[in-house]
Amino acid sequence: MLKEKIKKIEEISVSEIKKAANERALFDIKVKYLGRKGKLTEILKSLKNLNENERKTIGPLANQARQKLESEIAKRQKELSEKIDWEREKIDITLPGKKTEIGSLHPITLVYREIEKIFASMSFEIVEGPELETEWYNFSALNFPPDHPARDMQDTFWIRSEKEKFVLRTHTSPVQVRYMEKHKPPFRIIVPGRVFRNEATDAAHEHTLHQFEALVVGDDVNVGHFKYIASQFFSVFFGKKVEIRLRPSFFPFTEPSFEFDISCTVCSGKGCPSCKNSGWLEIGGAGMVNQNVFASAGYPENRYQGFAWGFGIERLAMMKYKIDDIRWFESGDLRFIRQL
Ligand code: PHE
Repeated sequence: MLKEKIKKIEEISVSEIKKAANERALFDIKVKYLGRKGKLTEILKSLKNLNENERKTIGPLANQARQKLESEIAKRQKELSEKIDWEREKIDITLPGKKTEIGSLHPITLVYREIEKIFASMSFEIVEGPELETEWYNFSALNFPPDHPARDMQDTFWIRSEKEKFVLRTHTSPVQVRYMEKHKPPFRIIVPGRVFRNEATDAAHEHTLHQFEALVVGDDVNVGHFKYIASQFFSVFFGKKVEIRLRPSFFPFTEPSFEFDISCTVCSGKGCPSCKNSGWLEIGGAGMVNQNVFASAGYPENRYQGFAWGFGIERLAMMKYKIDDIRWFESGDLRFIRQL
């Protein structure tokens, strides 16, 4: 009797297990037969009421049935966990794909890279310096007198500090002295970098801009070298022959000093609205390094000669990409960046 009952339970439960549709159903089957009040559990519990003879034949049978159920449950469990739920995995191949957002380079980065490439090809070293600068490197070492208007509150962001006087550098020129303190001529370097001016902003003025300095020092460097290198650089940068024009000017750290212009990149110097019919575009400042600057760096006086120049990278980018307002650069507006 009991023997048949066990056989029957085994048969039915195994077929139920094989058909279990999911893990939840399988669990319910397990409880139904092997749980505390499960059908097979009841039989196992009742074994103690049998006489010894019966126990010897029925006992092993009931235990075999339990093992069989357990192994069938484990097998089905594995199958179910490996089964792919096609309903959930279904792919609608008619849906449009998800686009990966690919970034683009900021125009300042583009111009940086272009400048660095051109100067590297002329054997210039690319040098950087700190944006938080001491008053010494930003002004005093560059021969600015203590009461020079550039040091004024209107132009410079001063940083409150106990020890030294710090400024957000107003130009890349302080790197001239930093570099010369550690290197002996001859050398040629360029210094691209971010600079800051305490300025009311408009289409042509920003408080945060990028500059680019060049410094060439040796025994016999002269203005002719400057003109040649500048015209080479701008010709490659704008992809057409560019002439350089110098106008007398003043910077404390150069003597003589000049402003320099390039022939208009739109009309090649014939005269057009871009250059207000003058044929020339203003670019930046330049000059022969003042001997006082060499002295700041610890060079012997009148031993070396060199030229330096500096100009705004934004202005260059505006010319190259025809951008009409300098405030775009720091705006963080992706519509602006994506165009280039
Ligand atoms: N540092 C100057 C400026 O910011 C530019 C300059 C650099 C002029 C080097 C002469 C030589 O205006």
